[in-house]
Amino acid sequence: MANVLRNSVRRFATTAARAATAETVNTYGIRVSQAQGVVDTLVGAIGNTPLIKLKKLSAETGCNILGKAEFQNPGGSIKDRAALYVVKDAEERGLLKPGGTVVEGTAGNTGIGLAHVCRAKGYKLVIYMPNTQSQGKIDLLRLLGAEVYPVPAVAWENSENYNWQAKRHAERLQKEDPEHGAVWTNQFDNIANRRAHIETTGPEIWAQTIGKVDAFTCATGTGGTLAGVTRFLKDVSDGRVKSFLADPPGSVLHSYISSGGQLKERSGGSITEGIGQGRVTDNLENEVKELDGSLFISDEKSIAMVYRCLDEEGLYLGASSALNVVAAKEVAEKLGPNHTVVTMLCDGAYRYADRLFSDKWLQSKNLRQAIPKHLEKYIVLP
Ligand SMILES: Cc1ncc(COP(=O)(O)O)c(C=O)c1O
Repeated sequence: MANVLRNSVRRFATTAARAATAETVNTYGIRVSQAQGVVDTLVGAIGNTPLIKLKKLSAETGCNILGKAEFQNPGGSIKDRAALYVVKDAEERGLLKPGGTVVEGTAGNTGIGLAHVCRAKGYKLVIYMPNTQSQGKIDLLRLLGAEVYPVPAVAWENSENYNWQAKRHAERLQKEDPEHGAVWTNQFDNIANRRAHIETTGPEIWAQTIGKVDAFTCATGTGGTLAGVTRFLKDVSDGRVKSFLADPPGSVLHSYISSGGQLKERSGGSITEGIGQGRVTDNLENEVKELDGSLFISDEKSIAMVYRCLDEEGLYLGASSALNVVAAKEVAEKLGPNHTVVTMLCDGAYRYADRLFSDKWLQSKNLRQAIPKHLEKYIVLP
């Protein structure tokens, strides 16, 4: 059965690679992609993001280092893909009917993605988040139409954790109004999240590189991106494409993977948002054994790369994307010249600018020294 699936993935991927090259060239000699065409509502604009070659790091390593421009999604991040798929999954399973309600526990990009998708599809959205989050995030979700409940920040194991409150809220609504339905989309353990990347992100990378990809690396929050892209690239290449986890401080996964699943160490924290994990989620469970290794990336390296990408490539990236770029560079160095390494540029720096480019904030995190002298000109905020 697994072989049948793998063969059909390979057949599909060959067709997809051919389709990607079937572009038109307009009268000015500019390539025009037909991938998007005219799309049906905002949800049709999710995905099909460009793969950007990072010229300086590619030259430095002798490799092709490519970053997938996920900040170009309508909600501004990679999480639009997961948001669309968890909603689609609820629709397919008959849990959500027109006028129904989506409930999720999230403090970040998933909420923004869900807000866009729910508005476009006519669903209500309820978000639970820890009350330690900034007023800016709460305001943004509210102005995108969501009902937001900031609740005390307690551990996952505590029944009052924001995720469990979201689950109970959906169960309550479902009982009160079964006709419209309500669903807790549960991004961490709902494998529709991973499916988004098996069906879209992975095939896009394969088609865009015309199968000439040697390695993939990215960090995990829910694990959906790493697991889904790894699954697709391993199947389509018969295991040839290597895949590496990139892990920030404070996450258990680097020690878990590098010790062959024995150890679970958790110490310290990170400035990166949306990534780092304390457990192996259902989304990651199947693919964690297939990874070819993991890289621990310090905050010093990630913040310096935020500034380098801005200066060298004109890319204004959030810290998780910068961490991914550091990992791609380290994988390229590990593999040696003439390899193609792909990573994810998950979101832009817009939501984090007041911290990442603030002198005071950098000092408070002991990261002021991590910024190279020639890039200090970008520390423009007090
Ligand atoms: C900025 C950012 N980067 C990376 C990720 C991780 O993606 P995934 O949840 O697919 O592991 C997230 C997830 O929320 C995110 O918000």
